[in-house]
Amino acid sequence: MKKAQLFALAAASAITLAGVSCSDGSNSTKASDYDKEIESLLSQMTLDEKIGQLNQRTGVGLTDEMTGAIRAGSVGSLLNEVDPETVNALQREAVENSRLGIPLIFSRDVVHGFKTIYPIPLGQAATWNPALVEEGARVAADEASSVGIRWTFSPMLDVARDSRWGRIAEGFGEDPYLTSVLGEAMIRGYQTDDLSRPNTMAACAKHFAAYGFSENGKDYNSVWMPESRLRDVVLPPFKKAAESGAATFMCSFNEINDVPTNASSYLLRDILRDEWGWNGMMVSDWGSIMQMVPQGHCTDLRHAAAVASKAGVDMDMESYAYIQHLKDLVEKGEVSEKTIDGLVRNVLRLKYRLGLFDNPYVDLDSARRFYTEANLDGARRAAEESAVLLTNNGILPLKENVRRIAVTGPLMDAKHDQNGTWCFDMEKEHTVTALEALTEMYGKDRIIAAPGLTYSRSTDAAGIRRAAAEAAKADVILFFAGEEAVLSGEAHCRADISLPGAQTEMLRALKATGKPVVTVIMAGRALTIPEESKLSDAVLYVFHPGTMGGPAIANLLSGKVNPSGRLPLTMPRMTGQLPLYYAHNNTGRPASGIVLIDSLELEADQTSTGCTSFYLDAGDGPLFPFGHGLSYTTFKYGPVELSATEIAPDGSITASCEITNTGEREGSEVAQLYVRDLVGSMVRPVRELKAFEKITLAPGESRKVSFTLDGADLAYTNAENKKITEPGEFRLWISPDSQAGEAVSFTVK
Ligand code: NOJ
Repeated sequence: MKKAQLFALAAASAITLAGVSCSDGSNSTKASDYDKEIESLLSQMTLDEKIGQLNQRTGVGLTDEMTGAIRAGSVGSLLNEVDPETVNALQREAVENSRLGIPLIFSRDVVHGFKTIYPIPLGQAATWNPALVEEGARVAADEASSVGIRWTFSPMLDVARDSRWGRIAEGFGEDPYLTSVLGEAMIRGYQTDDLSRPNTMAACAKHFAAYGFSENGKDYNSVWMPESRLRDVVLPPFKKAAESGAATFMCSFNEINDVPTNASSYLLRDILRDEWGWNGMMVSDWGSIMQMVPQGHCTDLRHAAAVASKAGVDMDMESYAYIQHLKDLVEKGEVSEKTIDGLVRNVLRLKYRLGLFDNPYVDLDSARRFYTEANLDGARRAAEESAVLLTNNGILPLKENVRRIAVTGPLMDAKHDQNGTWCFDMEKEHTVTALEALTEMYGKDRIIAAPGLTYSRSTDAAGIRRAAAEAAKADVILFFAGEEAVLSGEAHCRADISLPGAQTEMLRALKATGKPVVTVIMAGRALTIPEESKLSDAVLYVFHPGTMGGPAIANLLSGKVNPSGRLPLTMPRMTGQLPLYYAHNNTGRPASGIVLIDSLELEADQTSTGCTSFYLDAGDGPLFPFGHGLSYTTFKYGPVELSATEIAPDGSITASCEITNTGEREGSEVAQLYVRDLVGSMVRPVRELKAFEKITLAPGESRKVSFTLDGADLAYTNAENKKITEPGEFRLWISPDSQAGEAVSFTVK
């Protein structure tokens, strides 16, 4: 078989990571890591039983066919069984009635909460608060494991820079560093430092790899990616996940440079296992092995089974390629039993790590641990910290004595939609909407409720007229706009990311009342809202905030809580700017003297715009930059101080800066450290995030933030695919967003 190669230069790749140890899911290395137990079990297994362990099926309850298959040892894992009594009954078939008693693993997409729903991951990223993300994952694991789910398909670590892609909702945004830090926190939350505890879940770092770069933001599309960008932008969060002991990975649907990831032993074996030393379990995505046929890489399912098993896909999710064809492939000598043994070892290791051999059953006495006060409180805090105040002319926080408040717009009372994508187990009756929370806070008499549009795609002109007439009676209008949950997530991409339906018309009508309008946007991506930002007196962007979105929003609007979210992605003015991200290259002709289409003179010269890099209709740059977010207080940054002006490539440098709360109330600020490598053998981005810290300051309080960067933090992948720190001048900022701040310089010598 020809070895799948992703890149022409693959063989030249020479990055070896010293000190990356095989982890047991707890960041520590156990010498044996269950090797003895695994080998002993493996030696007793028939080929059929081995292949059975590699087979993941969707649960269908306790049918005769399913119990028969489990008893025969032909199921390794079950997806989407969430009834603890059924889970135990199925597990009993595996443990007590199959020949070797190997337990099943029950899995589910628990992506931002099981029952208590946290903000979508993109919203959680806006908190820039790893402790809060970890706490949310802990809550999810505790709730889901209480029904027997011990493996979640999360976190999604796909760096994504194109909001057309519906799955941008599921990740942590556009930046590899922010994604690495928050991904690590989420993994820790799911797994804790002891994965064998019954209230943990194995994490799954997905989708390996580069799925977030699907061409033109269309799901499942091909990816074109030079190896240097793969190494510097796509892989860092996965490498961090591997080092943090993520127990499983999932390979992605896409091809990279014409090779399906499910066929890429370069990615799945050479990089992940050999370079990074990871010894977890690799699951395919849903049917992704089978997809190699329509992708044009495999002739049929049998061929796909051979290719994926050799490449290193351990478990087959829903292709049934392994269970149908691996035995024949082994018997005919096309796949070696040694290859199969390698895959089985990884599956068994996961089951040992989860403690399933010792403790296979759900404790029914403590099953269904949902919606505790602490869990709901955590979900509210996360929703509060995920909200980004994009603009505010002083209308927020609402004045205490505001008499009448109009609550309007399609998302004002949308229990389903405020929870966003990927929350199968959400229950509407536990979700608190903005209308409910504001009514509770201000009293029914002060609230005028009129949705206008009843869902985000509606174009009901009469509804708009009615709502505007009602809203005109209020002192302030709160317009809840955005996208329904179903407009983002898997296979829900948009070629136009403006506000859907007649929402902009509705905002114009609300503005025409002459009353101040606060727009609160719930969405699974960055939407283009240039006009809406101008029409509004304030814009609060809350993503899809989850179960406790309503109370969080009421607390933010009323000023009980001060907004502290910061954008985890760049917000474009127009869809046509995508992909748009702050860490772009400068080009040889960076934008200057922008001439917009309406000011072009008739029959002007071809060179009249100055020939720099911008659009005639969108100009250049974002509507709001990565890292942006306002507060009800203000912060002042002092000058950046460096511990040195010169460092060796293997040295380190400390940068610090004093930040003062110059306003009149307590608030949290996210200090963001960016660098630019001014001249490189490969040109470097204008800025790259290297560190951040969220701090809370009382009015008038100052605090010094300090960050230490090693030479390795300044390294990048060069044309020979070597990670190097090149000598030369660097710029460094500590700033409130990716565009602000004064740079200081230092040199690597
Ligand atoms: C397909 C999705 O791509 C993946 O993220 C998910 O975990 C699986 N389906 C299982 O539902």
